[in-house]
Amino acid sequence: MNSPSTRNGKPLRLDKYLSSVTDYSRSDAKKLIKNGELSVDGDVITNPGALVSADASLELNGQNLRQVQHRYFMLHKPQGYVCATRDRRHPTVIDLLDEDNQDALHIAGRLDIDTTGLVLITDDGPWAHQVMSPKRQCFKRYRVGTGLPLDDSLVERFEKGVFLSESKRRTLPASLSILDPHEALLEICEGKFHQVKRMFGAVGNEVVALHREAVGALELDSDLAEGEYRALTAAEALLAVTGTVQNGS
Ligand code: URA
Repeated sequence: MNSPSTRNGKPLRLDKYLSSVTDYSRSDAKKLIKNGELSVDGDVITNPGALVSADASLELNGQNLRQVQHRYFMLHKPQGYVCATRDRRHPTVIDLLDEDNQDALHIAGRLDIDTTGLVLITDDGPWAHQVMSPKRQCFKRYRVGTGLPLDDSLVERFEKGVFLSESKRRTLPASLSILDPHEALLEICEGKFHQVKRMFGAVGNEVVALHREAVGALELDSDLAEGEYRALTAAEALLAVTGTVQNGS
C-alpha cells in the first residue's frame, strides 16, 4: 500500500487513523496512544490529536499495522448487475472484474440491480465491515430521482427518522438536500434492505432513479464509465471509513 497523501490532502488525527485501521474504538485508540504504545514513522507519539499523513507507517507495540496487503477496488456499477458474488439469473458486479482470486472478494455495501454508482469491493473483511456498520457512521451519499415532487418538510422528517415497514425503530438521522422538485441528495449511514426506496415510500413518494455518489469521504471517480473499475490507494481506502460526505459537494 503506498500513497503519499489523502486525496483531499488533509492529514488525519492519530486516534481516528488508529481506530480506522484496527478494531479499536476511538477511546481505546486514545488510551493506547497516551500509553506510548504507538509509533509513527519510528517515533513514539503520545498525543492522540497529532496530525499524520495517510501514508505514515504506524506500529503498535512494534507491530506494523499495514503489513497485510489487501486489495480495494471502486467500481461504477451499471444497471442490470447484481451485487452478489454469484447469481443464476443476472450478471454480477464481480463479473466486471479481471482479478486473480476473485473468490476472496467481498462487496462492501450492496446496491439494488437497478441502482447505479459507487460499489466498493475488497478482500479486507474488517474494512468492509467498517464501511457497512451504522455504528461507524460511515455516510453514503445517493442522488435520488423521485416520482412525485419533493416537499421541504421532508428534510426534517428524514433528519428525525422515519418508520420503515416492520421496523419499530426510526431510521437513523439522514441528511436530505433538495436540488429540484424531483431530485435530491440523501446521506444515510445505515444499509437496510432497499433503505432509500423504503424511506421515500414511507413518506408517500417513489424513487425512480438511484445513484450512489460517495461512501464516507470517498467519491466515485468521474473518470470511470459505467462498468469500469480501478484499485484504490491506501489513502482512498481510508477515506471510505473516515469523514462524512458533504451534501452537494
Ligand atoms: N437503498 C436502496 O433502496 N437501494 C439501493 O440500491 C441502495 C440504497
